[in-house]
Parts: sequence; C-alpha cells; structure tokens
Amino acid sequence: MSGPMATGAEGVTAIYPGSFDPVTNGHLDLIERGQRIFKRVIVSVLLNQEKDPLFTIEERIEMLRTVTAQWNNVEVDRFEGLLVNYASAKGAVVVLRGVRAVTDFDYEFQMALMNRHLRPEIETVFLMPAEDYSYLSSSLVKEVVKLGGSVRGLVPPGIERNLKRKLKSGN
Ligand code: PNS
Repeated sequence: MSGPMATGAEGVTAIYPGSFDPVTNGHLDLIERGQRIFKRVIVSVLLNQEKDPLFTIEERIEMLRTVTAQWNNVEVDRFEGLLVNYASAKGAVVVLRGVRAVTDFDYEFQMALMNRHLRPEIETVFLMPAEDYSYLSSSLVKEVVKLGGSVRGLVPPGIERNLKRKLKSGN
C-alpha cells in the first residue's frame, strides 16, 4: 500500500496537533501510543499569534524534537491556519487527540465535528493517556513551577529545567 490515501492503518499518517507549551509526559505518553498504531506521527505545533505562550515556537519544537528523538516514525513540525488543510497537505488522514477526562469531551467533540464538516475524509482518533497523567496539563505545570512546586515525573527532566529557567528569568 502506498500514497497518502492508503486505507490500512499500517500506511496511515497521523497529525498530533497542539500548543505544547511545553510538552508534558502526558503528551509523550500519547505520542508513544500513537506511533505504535500509525506508520508516521507528525507532532505539529500551532503557530498562534493570539495566545501568549511561555516558550517560543522554536523552543517548543526543539524540546519536542529532543524528547521524541527515540522514535524514528515521529516528526515535529509547525502549522498555521486550518488544521484539516494542513493535515491534508501532509497526506495525513488522521488527527490524533488525547482525552483525559469527561471535561475534555465537549471541546474535543466540537473540534472533531467541525473538522469533519470541513474535511469529511479526515478522522479524529482519540486516545487516553495513562491515568497517572489524566490531571496533567501544560498550564497547570507552568503554574506549579511558577509558584515553586515540583513537577518531577510530570515533564521530562530537561523540560523542568527549562521551565524553571524561563519562569525565574521571565524571558
Ligand atoms: O493544545 P491545544 O491548545 O488543545 O490544541 C488546539 C488545536 C491546536 C488542536 C486547535 O486549536 C486547532 O486545531 N487550531 C487550528 C485552527 C483550526 O483548524 N480551527 C478549526 C477547527 S475547530
């Protein structure tokens, strides 16, 4: 089987989109699960000028590349504009998203159905991260580090160092 519209899972490219500000062990858990299922996973960082991220897009990409280097079917990229148009341009037929708890469901359901409305040929596939990470989010991690708490075990060690450096120096 070959080409972007391959139908078997062994030929499928999945896009795993997000802000990744910064990547957490919850994201990594999902990438690990995704790369076992799909032939190729493209982790793609949204270039969103409206949000005020802690890390620049280059920093977020660099951190993602470092922590996903162990998988040769995982790539890191960036995108702007509509996710489904980007997915299509990349030859991906799957958008991969994580659902941690029911609180994620409403937002994810809306996005998945809007994406389906825009491009019905692209499917959203939801995976559950390990339950240890079901309460974990990049925003909570930033808040905890800012207030002097430890996030050991919740983000890769290098990321914790970057967070401390960034939140201490404020740049
Ligand atoms: O990490 P996040 O913030 O939950 O990721 C949200 C993301 C990047 C998946 C979402 O904001 C997105 O897909 N943005 C691209 C714009 C788009 O396609 N909007 C219409 C689909 S609802």
